[in-house]
Amino acid sequence: MCGIFGYIGNKNSIKECLQGLKLLEYRGYDSAGIATIQDAKILSFKSPGKLIELEKKINIFKDLKFDLAIGHTRWATHGSPTLANAHPHFDEKLKLAIVHNGIIENYASIRKKLLSKNILFRSETDTEVMAQLISYYYANDLLKAFDKAIKELTGSYAIALIHANHPDEIVASSKESPIVIGFDDNKDEIIISSDPNAFLGRNLNILFLKNNEIAHIKNKKINIYDKNLKIIHKKTERLNSKNISFSKNGFEHYLLKEIYEQPLTIQKAFLGRIQLKSGEVEFEDFNLPKSFLKKFKHIIITACGTSYHAGLCASNFFQKYLKINCSVEIASEMRFKDLNLTKDTLIIAISQSGETADTLSAIRKAKENNCHILSIVNVKNSTIARESDSSIFLKAGPEISVCSTKAFTSQITVLYLLAIYFARSRNLLEKKDAQIFLKELKKIPNIIKKILKKRKEIEKIAQKYAIYNSFFFLGRNLMYPTAMEAALKLKEISYIDANAYPAGEMKHGPLALISEKLPIVGFCLNEKTYDKMLSNLMEAKARSAPILAIASKKSYGIEDIADDIIWVDKVIDDLAIFPATIVGQLLAYFIAIIKKTDIDQPRNLAKSVTVE
Ligand code: G6P
Repeated sequence: MCGIFGYIGNKNSIKECLQGLKLLEYRGYDSAGIATIQDAKILSFKSPGKLIELEKKINIFKDLKFDLAIGHTRWATHGSPTLANAHPHFDEKLKLAIVHNGIIENYASIRKKLLSKNILFRSETDTEVMAQLISYYYANDLLKAFDKAIKELTGSYAIALIHANHPDEIVASSKESPIVIGFDDNKDEIIISSDPNAFLGRNLNILFLKNNEIAHIKNKKINIYDKNLKIIHKKTERLNSKNISFSKNGFEHYLLKEIYEQPLTIQKAFLGRIQLKSGEVEFEDFNLPKSFLKKFKHIIITACGTSYHAGLCASNFFQKYLKINCSVEIASEMRFKDLNLTKDTLIIAISQSGETADTLSAIRKAKENNCHILSIVNVKNSTIARESDSSIFLKAGPEISVCSTKAFTSQITVLYLLAIYFARSRNLLEKKDAQIFLKELKKIPNIIKKILKKRKEIEKIAQKYAIYNSFFFLGRNLMYPTAMEAALKLKEISYIDANAYPAGEMKHGPLALISEKLPIVGFCLNEKTYDKMLSNLMEAKARSAPILAIASKKSYGIEDIADDIIWVDKVIDDLAIFPATIVGQLLAYFIAIIKKTDIDQPRNLAKSVTVE
C-alpha cells in the first residue's frame, strides 16, 4: 500500500517527483524511491524511512534536468521496510523500473516460472516479479510487453513504469487501485499519481484510469487503451487547487493545527446547509432520488478507524428520528458478513480520504446487491466519491496529520444534518424541533473555541497522566463511541495502550485489571446516563484507579469521585460528542508531546490505507 507518482514535462522531474511524493506521503512512509533515465540507463535512488531520507540522498541530482521520473512512497505489506524492498523495482538487466501500489496474488507462480528461465531476482517482492515479467516479454515495444504481462497478473495494482530504451515514455495501468493522470492544456507537464492529492497547488485537467486500462504517455501525448489494446477517449475534469497549500500555520504540528481548525471546519460543514427559518437542511451536489428518499427501510453505515467511530456516534441519531434500524459495520468485516442487503438498504460510507480499500470493498459488495450508496467524504474526486451513487463532502480542507481530528467532527456534523434532512423529508420531525436542534448545533463552534482556550490546563493534566502505561476510556450511550475515538487518538500518537469500554461493561471482566497504575478517563457528558456513569467510576475508584473526568459545569457529585476534572460547557446529550472529543484530542496530543513521538506521522500507520 503506497503512493505512486510519475512526471514527464518541462521542469526538473526529480524535484517534481519529490514534491509529488511529499503530498502522497500520507499513504505510507516506510521507504521511498525515485527512478529516472540518464544516458540510456536507469538511474535510481531509494531509502528506507521517510521521504526526507531519500531527499538527502539525491540532493546533488536535484538541479540536473531529467525529462521524466517515477517515484514511490511505501507502506510495508509484503516484506519489511528495508532498502531492498523499497520501490522502484527493476528487471534483471536494470533496463526497466517499476513502482507499484497493490498486491499481486499470483506472484509466486510467476516467479517460479521466471526462475526456471534462469532469471535472477534481487528481492522477494511481488513488484519485482512484475518488472521481470514485463522485461521477459519485451521485444522493443514497451506497451505490448506491458499489456502481455499484466494479462497474466491477478490481484490489484496501480503501476507506473519506465524503460531505459524509451527515455520519453511512461506506461501506467490500474486494477482495483486508483491512478489519476493530470495535465495542463498544452501537455507541457503530464503527471501520474495514486490520487489527486498530489496535484495540490496546480490547475490541471484530470482523468482517472478504470480497471485494466493502460495509459501510454509519450511526446506530450496521452493514449489510453482498453483491455483489448484499443485506444479509447476519456472524459476529463478540471481540478484547480492552485490556491490550496499545505502549511502548519505557525503550529508545531499539523495535528494541533487541525485540532484548532475545528470551530471553522464544523461551521463549513453546516454553512449553507442549515436553513434555520424553515427548519430544513439542504445539501448541494446531492442527488438521492426522491422516490428512494421516502422508501429506504434501513441504513447500514460502513467505515474504518475514526470514520467508523463517527458512524457509531450517529447511528443512534438516525434511529431516533427515522424510526428505522441503522447498524454500523466495520468495512473490513462487512464484506464477509451475511447481511440482508436489498434495494431498500441505504449504505452510508464514511471516509475522510475516500480511498480506504476496506470501505471501497464494502460499498462494491453493497452495489452488487443493488443498495444505494451515499458517501460522506472529505476528498472530492476520491475513488469512494466516484463509485458512490451520491456524495456529501465535508469541506474540511486537507487533513494532513495521520491521526484524524477535524474530519471526525465534520463527519458527525454532516451525519446529524443528514438525519434531520431525512426526518424532515419523511415528515417525522416538526419544524420547531428541527429548529431547536439546529440552533444548538450552530453553537458548537463557540463551545469548542472555549475548550481550546483551556490548552494550558489540559497540558498540565497531560503531564500528570503521561507517566502511565495503560488507560481505560469509559463512557455510556453516546459517550462510549466518543471514548473509543479518544482512546484511539492516544494509542495512535503516544503509543500508549488505551482501551475503551462501555462503563457498564467494566464489571463483566475489565474491572479485574484495575489498579492504581491504570487511570480511567471518564466521559460524563450524557445526562441520560450520568448517574450510572458516576456509579461505574466509583467502582473503579474503590479499586484505586486514578480518575480523570470530563464533565459539564452543571453536573454534581463528580468532584467527590474524580482526581481531576476537565470542565466543559453543558450541551444537549446528542451534541456532547463534540466537547468530549476536543478534550480527548488535546489530551492525546499533549501526552504524545511528552512521549516525544512522531506526532504527525506515527510509526507503522498511514493516513489512507489502500490495501485490504
Ligand atoms: C487510517 C487512518 C485513520 C482513519 C482510517 C480510515 O487507518 O490512519 O486515521 O480513520 O484510515 O480512513 P478514511 O480516510 O477512510 O476515513
